[in-house]
Amino acid sequence: MAANLLQVERLSISVGGGAGRVVSDTGKPLLAVDDISFTIRAGEIVGIAGESGCGKTLTALSIPALLPEGVGRVGGSIVFDGVDLGALPPHELTARRGKDISMIFQEPMTSLNPLLRVGRQIAESLELHGETDRALVRQKTLDIMRQVGLPDPVRLAAMYPHQLSGGMRQRVMIALAIVCGPRLLIADEPSTALDVTIQAQILRLLRRINRERGVAILFISHDLALLSRVCDRMLVMYAGKIVEEGAASDLFTAPVHEYTRGLIGSIPDRSRKGMALVNIPGKVPSLEELGGIRDGCPFAPRCYAAVETCLTHFPKPTMLNAHHRVHCVHAGARHG
Ligand SMILES: Nc1ncnc2c1ncn2[C@@H]1O[C@H](COP(=O)(O)OP(=O)(O)OP(=O)(O)O)[C@@H](O)[C@H]1O
Ligand SMILES: [Mg+2]
Repeated sequence: MAANLLQVERLSISVGGGAGRVVSDTGKPLLAVDDISFTIRAGEIVGIAGESGCGKTLTALSIPALLPEGVGRVGGSIVFDGVDLGALPPHELTARRGKDISMIFQEPMTSLNPLLRVGRQIAESLELHGETDRALVRQKTLDIMRQVGLPDPVRLAAMYPHQLSGGMRQRVMIALAIVCGPRLLIADEPSTALDVTIQAQILRLLRRINRERGVAILFISHDLALLSRVCDRMLVMYAGKIVEEGAASDLFTAPVHEYTRGLIGSIPDRSRKGMALVNIPGKVPSLEELGGIRDGCPFAPRCYAAVETCLTHFPKPTMLNAHHRVHCVHAGARHG
C-alpha cells in the first residue's frame, strides 16, 4: 500500500470573524468544518460528497491554505508528503501551490485571467516555477494542451478564455493545474456546470491524468453516483463532519449512515431495487442553527432513526472493515 501523500488530522475551520468570535450558546466558535480527519495515498482518487453547505469547499481550500478572508483554520494539522503545511512560511507555501498541490474549480473563469491568451497563462505558470528556457516553455505549453485534449494547440494558445467553449476552458484550467507536475490535484465540482457529454469527457480526462501521471485527486461533488464511478474511496460530509467513509464501491452498495443512504436513495437507479429508498426530510442546518447541536450528531434532527444520545454525543467511529468507517450509533446493528 502506498504511503500517505496527504494527512489531515482533526481539522476545524471557523467562519464569521475568525477564531475568537463566540456565537453559540455553548460558547464555541462557529465551525463550518468540525474536527475531521482523512488521508489520501499517492495516486489515489478520494471523493468528498455532501449537500450544499456541508463544508466541502472550505475543506479543500484549507489544504493549499487558500481560505477566504474571515475564514480560518482553528485546529488540526495538514501534512503533505511528511511536511506540516501549517508550519511553512508563506513563500514556501506559495511555491508548493501549483507545483505539489493544485486546484481546479467549477467555474474556470475564476482562475483564468480574461486578459491573457491561454497559452501565455500556461507558460507563465511554468516560468513561475523556474522554467527559463523560452523554447522549452513553448514546447511544454503546447504539449500539455495536446495532452488535455485541446485540438490545434498552436491556434488555441493564441486565444483568450472568452473565445473558448466551457468545456475547452475547463481543459485549459486542467492543463494549467497539471503543467508543473503536481502530486495532488484538488478538483472542486469540476464538471458540474458542463453539459452531460462534456462532463463525461472531463471525468475521463481526470481519470487518465490520474492513471498516466500518478496524480492523486481529491474530487469534490454533491453527486455521489458520479463520485462512486470516479473514486477509489469516498468521504461523506454532513454539516462540517465526516459521517461515513469507505471504499467507493462499499459506500455505494452498502451505505450505513442514514445520511449516506438518503443521498444514494435520492439517485434514480433501478439496479438497486432491493434497497429501500430513504427520503431525507428537511435541509442542511445553517451554522447558526448548528450552534445548538454542536456536540451531537448534526444529522440527528433530520434522522428518523435518531435516539436521545444522538442529540448530545457525536458517535465515535465504528470500523466495518479496514476502510469503511461510520459515525452512527446504529452502525454495528445495521451492518451485514
Ligand atoms: N467566505 C465565507 N464566509 C462565511 N461563511 C462561509 C464562507 N464560505 C463558506 N461559508 C459557510 O461555510 C459552510 C460551508 O461552506 P462550503 O462552501 O465549504 O460548502 P460546500 O459543501 O462546498 O457547498 P456547495 O456544495 O454549495 O459548494 C456554509 O455554511 C457556508 O455558508
Ligand atoms: Mg463548494
